[in-house]
Amino acid sequence: MGRTVVGVTIFGLLLASAVAQPNQNDWDIYSFHINSTVSNRYATTVITSRVANRMQESKEIEFHVQIPKDAFISKFRMYIDGQAYDGVVKTKEKAQQQYTEAVSRGQSAGIVSSVGRSLEEFRTSVNVGANKKVTFELHYEELLRRKHGKYELKIHARPMQTVRDFKIDVHMQEKAGITFVDVKGGLSTKELANAITKTQEDKQVWVHFYPTVNQQQTCDGCGEQGLNGDLIISYDVQRDNGFGDIQKANGYFVHHFAPSSLPRIPKNVVFVIDRSGSMSGRKMQQTRIALVKILSDLAEEDFFGLITFDSEILTWKKELVQATAENVETAQAFARNIQDRGATDINAALIEGAKMLTRYKREGSASILILLTDGDPTTGVTNRVKIQENVKRVIAGNFPLYCLGFGFDVSFEFLQKLSLMNDGVARRIYEDSDADLQLKGFYEEVANPLLTDVTMIYEGGANLTQTNFSQYYNGSEIVVAGQILDNNVENFNPQVVAISVRSKVTFSEGDTGPDPNENTSDSVLQRVWAYLTVKQLLKKELLLSGNEKQKVKDEALELSLKYSFVTPLTSMVVTKPQEGDTEVLHKPEEGKPQRHRHHGGGSTATRRTQLISSSPQSRHRTGVVHSSRLSVHPRYPGLAAHPGLPGLPGRPGQQGLPGEKGFPSTSSRWAMFPMYDDFPDFGAALPQTPASDYVQLETTSDYIEATSSPEPVTHRFWVKSDGPSRPLCFDVPGTVLLKLLYHPSRELYINGELDSVTNGGFKKIVIRVGSDQRIEVDTEGITVEHGQNVSRHVGPDPIRSGSATIIRTDKEIDIEVEDIRLVIYIHQKDREDLLWPVLRQIPSDSNTDGLLALKPVVYEISQIIPHTKVKINESEIQVTNADAIDYSLGSHRSMECFHAPADQILPRPLSHFLVNRL
Ligand SMILES: *[C@@H]1O[C@H](CO)[C@@H](O)[C@H](O)[C@H]1NC(C)=O
Ligand SMILES: *[C@@H]1O[C@H](CO)[C@@H](O)[C@H](O)[C@H]1NC(C)=O
Ligand SMILES: *[C@@H]1O[C@H](CO)[C@@H](O)[C@H](O)[C@H]1NC(C)=O
Ligand SMILES: *[C@@H]1O[C@H](CO)[C@@H](O)[C@H](O)[C@H]1NC(C)=O
Ligand SMILES: *[C@@H]1O[C@H](CO)[C@@H](O)[C@H](O)[C@H]1NC(C)=O
Ligand SMILES: *[C@@H]1O[C@H](CO)[C@@H](O)[C@H](O)[C@H]1NC(C)=O
Ligand SMILES: *[C@@H]1O[C@H](CO)[C@@H](O)[C@H](O)[C@H]1NC(C)=O
Repeated sequence: MGRTVVGVTIFGLLLASAVAQPNQNDWDIYSFHINSTVSNRYATTVITSRVANRMQESKEIEFHVQIPKDAFISKFRMYIDGQAYDGVVKTKEKAQQQYTEAVSRGQSAGIVSSVGRSLEEFRTSVNVGANKKVTFELHYEELLRRKHGKYELKIHARPMQTVRDFKIDVHMQEKAGITFVDVKGGLSTKELANAITKTQEDKQVWVHFYPTVNQQQTCDGCGEQGLNGDLIISYDVQRDNGFGDIQKANGYFVHHFAPSSLPRIPKNVVFVIDRSGSMSGRKMQQTRIALVKILSDLAEEDFFGLITFDSEILTWKKELVQATAENVETAQAFARNIQDRGATDINAALIEGAKMLTRYKREGSASILILLTDGDPTTGVTNRVKIQENVKRVIAGNFPLYCLGFGFDVSFEFLQKLSLMNDGVARRIYEDSDADLQLKGFYEEVANPLLTDVTMIYEGGANLTQTNFSQYYNGSEIVVAGQILDNNVENFNPQVVAISVRSKVTFSEGDTGPDPNENTSDSVLQRVWAYLTVKQLLKKELLLSGNEKQKVKDEALELSLKYSFVTPLTSMVVTKPQEGDTEVLHKPEEGKPQRHRHHGGGSTATRRTQLISSSPQSRHRTGVVHSSRLSVHPRYPGLAAHPGLPGLPGRPGQQGLPGEKGFPSTSSRWAMFPMYDDFPDFGAALPQTPASDYVQLETTSDYIEATSSPEPVTHRFWVKSDGPSRPLCFDVPGTVLLKLLYHPSRELYINGELDSVTNGGFKKIVIRVGSDQRIEVDTEGITVEHGQNVSRHVGPDPIRSGSATIIRTDKEIDIEVEDIRLVIYIHQKDREDLLWPVLRQIPSDSNTDGLLALKPVVYEISQIIPHTKVKINESEIQVTNADAIDYSLGSHRSMECFHAPADQILPRPLSHFLVNRL
């Protein structure tokens, strides 16, 4: 058809024009201002960038900034030729619809936002006429969180050029009074120190940063492209009474509660440490370092326990022990010796940890369970819902569980849910040189419990944010916002009840009374309330299902729209001047795995950006369409064939099941295998899980037994048979990585990770070419790495990277790489998405290996009674009748097959098709 070739050529041309660097002669950022206003810990930041096109022709001009993850964008505006273009916050669906319509009209551009450690990216671009100017203005808002005894306002500056008029202005206003202010960060180094001025009064602080063009080039991390770094302003506020400060205005209140002059509560802490194989190397080493440090920070009055786990659970001591110098020392020796090995049995490990804490009840103490893991559960109970249920049952609301997810191989959403269900929070630990410091930093946040069972009571209040907290730690803060019934401050009576060491304590508002001068400006409190409410609803939503979930979601959505917040439920639609061109901005979700190993590489990121957002609308105008590229192939059930192969029967009407009479005998050499749906009863043929997977501590076996029968999930594959007979099928246990294709002469690997929860399908498929190109497809999107360039794509825009072209539509992803054409279908099963790969164009090389390269099996039935036996290559094997699902087409269907163990059907043992990494 030639379409492919045309497509490639056009992409090639586009690529060439897209990679041109922004040239200072082309466009000029002549002014870049960041203005942050903090009022009672609520920060509103406005970034304004003015850019001129210095060319004699129109030019795509880009605006690209990084903002804190916790922030919500609340406004975006562009001015061109005196005309304002405002972004409008809409529901995700509406935004998507508008976007799709624009695409179908042949005009559009999507914005891909990405997640780094604490920042996310906002970028857009607009076509600006010759010698014309554009102004970009972005607003975002966030409630600063108190951590380690201070608040931090972080401003990231990287305008991508030196800018004649660059400035950052910060104004902070804290009613309670400011105790200290520090200005730190990469932009506060000595070359730049004299560009920073700080003015502090009792309740206000101004910080100004106005570097010269010269300074913009000479600071640490800055270069030809100007500034690149953070300005971090940290401060704390005065607290003279335990109750903290509460502001009220216009019917809203915000209460900041952070008492510090309280005795510390002794704690009982159990660390549950993953030492599975995936932790090997630096992660394990950093964990050991962090643990040794953390242990030495334990107070002598604390009790602690240490559990390490892979498929087995190893407890340092069976019971909690006191943190005496001697005990700490032996525990450190144990920690230094933790070695990585084996699989990941999170369920059994957490249950053991929880039981340890439960057995050890000590009055006047605070118990804490901390899990550190870098992977998903792979052995024991692996069904996440069951783990969550088990853990919740054992913890029974008695103490919080904190989950630390190390790296990006771990399902963060799973950990988040696990923590939230047990009054804790989940944190991501980034794989980096400072991982041990991150671990220690987290521990320090919870190191000093001051109160337990904190109940915040607001008589006369309504629509409150969270009011019950299981523990309060020194250095942190509890913030509650709400509405005041009828705006009647007289009847509004806030109070805090909690447990300090052994006694109940009550805090109430002193006789500060209403301050006549205290006209809290306004609507800020209302926005704080909305911000907190949306954040909490989004968390709550994670824990719910069905109607309740929808209700909470609707509520969060309504508030997001009302306050114009770009949250995970909303998107901002930016309509651009030319031809009503539209862009959609989504907030990236923290839970989703994203690879950002190369995050922070200044110019790399620049180039990446441009690749993604370079005038994609013109791509559409060229008429290159996605989808329908596969229609040239005859669609045979269970058959994925190269159209060019000789002998492929071209009978389009033929849709019969293999095994039925008349199924064409084909000489196609490429077979495809789908999988199985329900559990059949042919026990002997089911893969036997090695007994060692069930090795459990005695103490936890009751939970395991109750849940072990459907574990692990099994996947059924089928191999096409040559001739008019049924396909053969076999099972593969669900937690393995499979070699789908290995193409030696191209150094091309395609590997897949089976879904471990739903039986059927892959959760991730990775294509590697050589040592520097990697394409990772998951059910949410596609991550493309080429050398140092890494990008994540979730939208439908075609992706071109190295030798690969990727086109994604709703239900399928079409990948062309080297001489391979791979289609990955996205099927839905049990409301989970799963991936299914089909090879559409096979390599000419005959040395290819892997499941996708299997040739059809030739067999004959040699016996029917009493058992069915088939003969493959002179060897006879016994088979059973079974069902399998064919996922190799856009929609799936079930069919019959002959089932036998994998090793008997495959030309090589199953282990040959397993790989260690994707
Ligand atoms: C910063 O923003 C505040 C609030 O919008 C405004 O009052 C102030 O003038 C701005 N400061 C500068 C230097 O633009
Ligand atoms: C709590 O932290 C403050 C400093 O933020 C410190 O002065 C105080 O001693 C700490 N209290 C306890 C019990 O650790
Ligand atoms: C908060 O705690 C109090 C007493 O401890 C209890 O009565 C109330 O139901 C709890 N509220 C919520 C929302 O859990
Ligand atoms: C609480 O929120 C609901 C829904 O937004 C609203 O109808 C109600 O008036 C609010 N309550 C108060 C006291 O403002
Ligand atoms: C406070 O604001 C209200 C309107 O919201 C106004 O009527 C009142 O005069 C203000 N009080 C002071 C002291 O500024
Ligand atoms: C990364 O991207 C840049 C610009 O888009 C390109 O010049 C460079 O060749 C890319 N690097 C690799 C290894 O693909
Ligand atoms: C059967 O023999 C052929 C040719 O020797 C070989 O290619 C094929 O892999 C064998 N099949 C099995 C299942 O062993």
